[in-house]
Amino acid sequence: MEYQLSIAEALYPHLKDHLTMEDILALLEKPKTAEHGDMAFPAFQLAKIFRKNPAQIASELQEKISSPLIEKTETVGPYLNFFLKRDMVGKHVITEVIEQGAHYGESDFGKNQNVPIDMSSPNIAKPMSMGHLRSTVIGNSLAKIYSKMGFHPVKINHLGDWGTQFGKLIVAYKKWGTEEEVRANPITELLRLYVKFHQEAEDDPSLEEEGRSWFKRLEDGDNEALELWEWFREESLQEFNKVYDRLGVSFDSTNGEAFYNDKMDEVVELLEEKNLLTVDQGAHIVDLEKYDLNPALIKKTDGATLYITRDLAAALFRHRTYDFTQSLYVVGQEQTNHFKQLKAVLKEMGYDWADDIQHIPFGLITQGGKKLSTRQGKVVLLEEVLDEAVAQALDQINQKNPDLPNKEQVAEQVGVGAIVFHDLKNDRLNSFDFTISELVQFEGETGPYVQYTRARAMSILRKAGALDAQPVEEFNLSDDYSWEIIKLLQEFPETVQRAYEKREPSVIAKHSLHLAQAFNKFYAHVRVLDEHEERDSRLALVHAVTEVLKEDLNLLGVNSPDEM
Ligand code: ARG
Repeated sequence: MEYQLSIAEALYPHLKDHLTMEDILALLEKPKTAEHGDMAFPAFQLAKIFRKNPAQIASELQEKISSPLIEKTETVGPYLNFFLKRDMVGKHVITEVIEQGAHYGESDFGKNQNVPIDMSSPNIAKPMSMGHLRSTVIGNSLAKIYSKMGFHPVKINHLGDWGTQFGKLIVAYKKWGTEEEVRANPITELLRLYVKFHQEAEDDPSLEEEGRSWFKRLEDGDNEALELWEWFREESLQEFNKVYDRLGVSFDSTNGEAFYNDKMDEVVELLEEKNLLTVDQGAHIVDLEKYDLNPALIKKTDGATLYITRDLAAALFRHRTYDFTQSLYVVGQEQTNHFKQLKAVLKEMGYDWADDIQHIPFGLITQGGKKLSTRQGKVVLLEEVLDEAVAQALDQINQKNPDLPNKEQVAEQVGVGAIVFHDLKNDRLNSFDFTISELVQFEGETGPYVQYTRARAMSILRKAGALDAQPVEEFNLSDDYSWEIIKLLQEFPETVQRAYEKREPSVIAKHSLHLAQAFNKFYAHVRVLDEHEERDSRLALVHAVTEVLKEDLNLLGVNSPDEM
């Protein structure tokens, strides 16, 4: 239930000559402090219309207004403040949460609309970077948020599986590699070979030539080259899958760059037909001056296609296959220009749906001040980051709850959850540094804090023998601690909506933190399990908190262990 709506309805009869319901809803504010009530209506705007001062208008409105949901009203200067009937609102919200469970907050806003989400998209034969981790977890969370809003997301892993580097890799493998070593540690070994190639090529430039010629063989469909490439791709993907499994992320498609090899001729033909290609020093480009962008390089002098050529083919393919209403690309902000060019070329080609393409950029994460880098061959593997977080989570569990059954499994959920939550709790465009030990803490603004809070709430329910929620017959909580919780529960659906509108999982993460904080305050002041006339209402409230915290975390792609 939207209590804003009830308040607006109460105001409307007295303002309908001047304001619409939408106007009134837009004017209603949430007061900064709880003592100013639950909702405030500022009367400034009406001063001109009524030719009275706003304070006077506020107090005249106050006298006229009534609604079954409103407990009382107060005026503070130009504001009319509303206090809601806490038990009524509470009963309503808690009932909704308990009845709808995991479905609470769902809408059919995006019904029947496909939304491809290009996410993760690491480059094969290289370790997955922090940037790819970000893309994976942001994309995964957006997919869940879109789903909750009724859309049909299609998660696409646009693997970087084509390019001249594979020619070099083949050369390096044939010279210095063995099958056993690659099988044993695919990514590290392929990376070692790649790095070695560059070191050796400094003294022996003919290697570069050899690399190019192997890439040419690959492009021409040479069997040996293709087999090696397929094998490298397969081994890499298996390594990536280990990380995806731990993160609980799956894809609807792993069509990467290579998938578009046979789909680029069409792009080039279309560009030619539409007279968009110009030859500039032997290269084919699309001029984008009128968009204030550099020209898009479609084909190099030697005929090789480029990253953007593949993305053009992919955009056409996705539009045909999914007939999307939005198409998202969760890719670091350093590629902003690329996506501007992509959209501009499509626009030039006459495709209005280019406007439905959205680049979802994000900032850079570093660990201990350093970017995870592959260039020098010094790599921090993502898996090692996850392992470290899990080990530290296990330490914490050993301190707090040494007898916990299936500790290892819970530690995995907490450690991995900590990394994911941390990644999502900041506005995605922020760049930040992280230190594992900080984000695995059970206190502070961390994922484990939210998980731990929920696990405590679950343990209350267990002790009360109230794991199955009962319908709320009578709800009589009106204390301030409960009320804070009720308001946050009530705000969950609009929070999902806001996260969707801003394409911003951090909106959900912040909601989970606020709810966890409100619950901990409540828990510190209210003895839920004591025999008391409010006991049933309190248990119902606790139950609703466990449901909504679980759903918050779920939308972030973080697990909620029932005990920890
Ligand atoms: N593989 C690319 C990289 O690591 C990201 C691909 C993003 N997706 C796309 N359709 N361009 O930078």
